[in-house]
Amino acid sequence: MTKELIRLSDCKVAFDGDVVLDNINLYINDKEFLTLLGPSGCGKTTTLRIIGGFLKPDSGDVFFDGARINDVPPHKRLVNTIFQKYALFTHLNVFENVAFGLRVARPDDKKIDKHEISHRVIEMLEVVSLKGFEKRDVSSLSGGQQQRVAIARALVNKPKVLLLDEPLGALDMRLRKDMQNELKQIQQSTGITFVYVTHDQEEALAMSDTVVVMEGGVIQQIGTPEDIYNEPKNAFVADFIGESNIVDGIMRSDGVVEIFGRKFKCLDSGFEPMEPVDVVIRPEDIDIVSPGKGKLTGTITGITFRGVMYDIIVDFHGFKWLIQTTDLCQVGTEIGIQIDPDGIHIMKKSRFSGMYGDYSSYSAEYDDIGDAEHEYEPEDEDEA
Ligand SMILES: Nc1ncnc2c1ncn2[C@@H]1O[C@H](COP(=O)(O)OP(=O)(O)OP(=O)(O)O)[C@@H](O)[C@H]1O
Ligand SMILES: [Mg+2]
Repeated sequence: MTKELIRLSDCKVAFDGDVVLDNINLYINDKEFLTLLGPSGCGKTTTLRIIGGFLKPDSGDVFFDGARINDVPPHKRLVNTIFQKYALFTHLNVFENVAFGLRVARPDDKKIDKHEISHRVIEMLEVVSLKGFEKRDVSSLSGGQQQRVAIARALVNKPKVLLLDEPLGALDMRLRKDMQNELKQIQQSTGITFVYVTHDQEEALAMSDTVVVMEGGVIQQIGTPEDIYNEPKNAFVADFIGESNIVDGIMRSDGVVEIFGRKFKCLDSGFEPMEPVDVVIRPEDIDIVSPGKGKLTGTITGITFRGVMYDIIVDFHGFKWLIQTTDLCQVGTEIGIQIDPDGIHIMKKSRFSGMYGDYSSYSAEYDDIGDAEHEYEPEDEDEA
């Protein structure tokens, strides 16, 4: 059963008149892995600082387990933080770094005896796979091991909630992936609520139960990773999460959208007749067919080998799309495309319309080949 643990209600923060968080409304359930995702400067750390009690919102309320905690200081909250730059004590060994978490001021003001400290530290080092490292100098550890010490230190006094601010930012890709899995396992085995901050969308999709997409101090969308990927609310979210072609469309009727003068079947409904919309088409949802058989015809202007598949850039009437395919293609070839109805997602126009989703600059080196003219196809009224 899900139980709400934290709620931010209409939280606003401004620094020197600049609004940094604008009416943030968010709840976090007990045992949830929730990720704040967004570009640099969008307000992720500021949101985390409000939850941790390091910053009071200018207006709005923070609730923990139903009680208003605006005025509760950080050490009285059942929350621990791993900061963006996790600071380990380089003059202390692994054991003492972790034990520090038990010796600092605690929510219950209780002192913990030596025996208990030792027991809990060893237990935590086991959780983060660092058993036997107790006496090691932290400066002698690898980046990933240091990160695990920071996690053990934050977990050792059993917080209800752990706030993690880009904890894997300093690690290389491979280690990052390993640590993502480990963190997820630790979260599940301990049952601690994680509020995780990252600007890496892949990381957010892979780890989270819930993703909160932020931009400019505003929450753009909250949902499961699948929701956010498959049903982005606007062009910002569609562009930020994964690769997307975003083109102008017109809703002709429920289930029919017009793109470049051609009608496509889709699963979306509830728009005004002839409403201008943003259409998202993911690169993996486009089928390549022979030019005569496609709904649209374009010319391949760039190809990048990605291992599992090729990224190809295709010019449709001057607008460049990214298509992912396992077929071997050649630059300069004309292709047709088909898109199944469930490969098309319709979004309302927003202030982000027209800002994202064009791949013109993606493979600039092939641009000169791709400028070949081709005929605009006549509209086929009854095809959709
Ligand atoms: N103490 C402060 N005084 C003035 N401006 C601040 C302060 N703290 C944050 N800001 C501003 O608020 C905005 C949001 O900052 P925040 O640290 O929350 O971003 P972020 O999403 O965590 O970014 P990053 O991914 O770069 O860490 C930024 O424009 C930042 O410059
Ligand atoms: Mg930050």
